[in-house]
Amino acid sequence: MKRILITGASSGIGLEAARLLACSDHRLILCCRTNARIEQTRRILIDAGADASRVDGVVMDLADLGSVERGCQQLLAQGLALDALVLNAGLQRAGDPTPARSAQGIELTFAVNQLAHQLMAMRLLPLLQQAPQPRLVITASDVHDPCTGGGRVGQPASLGELQGLRSGAGFGMVDGSPRFDGDKAYKDSKLCNVLMGRELARQLDEAMPVIAWSPGLVIPRGDGGFFRFNRQRNPLGMALFSLLARDLLRLTESVDHAGGLLADLSTAAEFSTAGFSYISNRLVRPGLHRFAAVETSAEGADPLKAAELWKCCTQLIEACLSG
Ligand SMILES: NC(=O)c1ccc[n+]([C@@H]2O[C@H](COP(=O)([O-])OP(=O)(O)OC[C@H]3O[C@@H](n4cnc5c(N)ncnc54)[C@H](OP(=O)(O)O)[C@@H]3O)[C@@H](O)[C@H]2O)c1
Repeated sequence: MKRILITGASSGIGLEAARLLACSDHRLILCCRTNARIEQTRRILIDAGADASRVDGVVMDLADLGSVERGCQQLLAQGLALDALVLNAGLQRAGDPTPARSAQGIELTFAVNQLAHQLMAMRLLPLLQQAPQPRLVITASDVHDPCTGGGRVGQPASLGELQGLRSGAGFGMVDGSPRFDGDKAYKDSKLCNVLMGRELARQLDEAMPVIAWSPGLVIPRGDGGFFRFNRQRNPLGMALFSLLARDLLRLTESVDHAGGLLADLSTAAEFSTAGFSYISNRLVRPGLHRFAAVETSAEGADPLKAAELWKCCTQLIEACLSG
């Protein structure tokens, strides 16, 4: 039995992973934006057969560094070891003409996908290090890599010299580009996730498994989920894209299977190799994915950029929390 903290467990891939883990008698801490979201998720897991006494929650709105800090301090005060820290929550706002902002005024995609998760890793590392065989799992995406199918559609991910991030909370794009591009902001945030994993593994002397992974394209049926913003902005376009990619061309992965992969990454012995790895669920042909360790993009493999990104994020987090 492992004690696992997971972000983004209230929907999609994270919810399915949480269901599988909770029903395998692991102890879960659901990290959700509100108490109501924790309770809704707990109820789903308990109805699916989870033991209620093994599903806890902690409120962290990842769009508010103050809320993340309070949640982390609550966990540190409890002082219980964590076997796995699963940083899975994420959002994208492709097509948004202007940046949405977090509570601290930071571009929302970067704030939620990267900055909040780095703060969690910074604070909760001591709890992971108390466990006998801990691991850290980060849900990234192949779109971080301009050489992959998804990564080459639209503007490619690239962080430049981090000029935007260095300029303080008000930036739109991490690379300092004047024009906001919501799709690139998402790709950039996933490149940040890869670099964060790499830098964390280095800081830990490659002694703990730090796994960044890509689930493949997952388009759930129904209204919610990862493409909710696209559905609101362009319902017809999104319906056509779903029909084509998921139902006709069979380019997508199912939520169930992607959730299963995340559950395996969080607990299975085969993913316990120490050090950084990037594991991708890549489409081989229509209807068939292969889940295997692969190289990251060249930019995602740059140790200097990884260290610089970590430093700039730390400075921004500290400025926001002390401000
Ligand atoms: N779906 C894909 O095609 C795909 C492809 C590659 C990578 N990914 C990555 O996979 C991960 C999971 O995505 P998914 O497809 O499962 O999407 P999803 O169904 O939209 O789930 C996203 C999760 O993130 C949580 N979240 C978002 N903003 C938050 C905030 N401010 N505070 C706390 N939690 C917040 C959501 O909470 P609420 O339920 O409260 O909104 C939800 O639990 C993400 O990191 C995503 O980037 C997805």
